[in-house]
Amino acid sequence: MSSQEKGRGIGEIWGAQAASLLISAACRDAVRLFLIPRFFCSRQAAGYCRLSLRSPENQSPMNIEYLADYPDALPSLAEWQHREWGHLRAGDTVENRRARLQGYCNRDRIPLTVVALEGSEVLGSASLVLHDMETRMELTPWLAGVFVGEQHRRKGIGAELVRRIMVEAGKLDVPLLYLYTVHSEKFYAALGWTLLERTSYREQKVVIMTYAPARPKP
Ligand SMILES: CC(C)(COP(=O)(O)OP(=O)(O)OC[C@H]1O[C@@H](n2cnc3c(N)ncnc32)[C@H](O)[C@@H]1OP(=O)(O)O)[C@@H](O)C(=O)NCCC(=O)NCCS
Repeated sequence: MSSQEKGRGIGEIWGAQAASLLISAACRDAVRLFLIPRFFCSRQAAGYCRLSLRSPENQSPMNIEYLADYPDALPSLAEWQHREWGHLRAGDTVENRRARLQGYCNRDRIPLTVVALEGSEVLGSASLVLHDMETRMELTPWLAGVFVGEQHRRKGIGAELVRRIMVEAGKLDVPLLYLYTVHSEKFYAALGWTLLERTSYREQKVVIMTYAPARPKP
């Protein structure tokens, strides 16, 4: 090989190395400047963080049961719900609410209530009821009374309760399930509910949403 050819060969190798260095620096910068920030702002990252918070050693042994099987939960649920929604029905009392919940102690027919429990501690509840909006009696049945105790929120319990009622509705051959909400449209949308209508109810702006439950496979 002539010294001229040798020089050209070395030049090509250096050129190739310089190009590969430039490409790898560009990739590194793309990952650092673009992909990493996007990942940390994403819902997936939130999911991964939550998954790691719910690693087996931290996981709470939460169960969702029929209120019919855990009637001891009834007084706490009535107190919570009355505190949250009592003002919406003039003249309503905790006793009235307790009596209503008593009537929801079914397992295979509407109305029914499910309750989230950790051991004997009551975490929250949700109900499947025939009517929930006095102005819309033609729509039935409804997901109602979705409630998680304040200290237990943002741990996925509310979503689990809603999903359980969606499954119960499927088991009962409900073609279309309704709910209304003042503040939680996004929460339900993320669980597959769609907007039916924006309206007013008891002097509040509400949205009515629907969900078509899947029938259980035979
Ligand atoms: C609404 C409520 C039931 C949610 O229960 P929760 O156990 O805190 O909800 P989860 O932890 O299952 O939340 C699931 C997801 O919804 C989000 N979310 C929870 N409440 C939300 C809300 N009000 N609006 C928008 N998103 C909400 C959570 O951030 C979470 O999102 P992620 O999966 O991306 O992290 C609870 O805040 C509550 O009891 N509020 C008072 C009563 C009430 O308003 N009930 C609803 C009446 S329609």
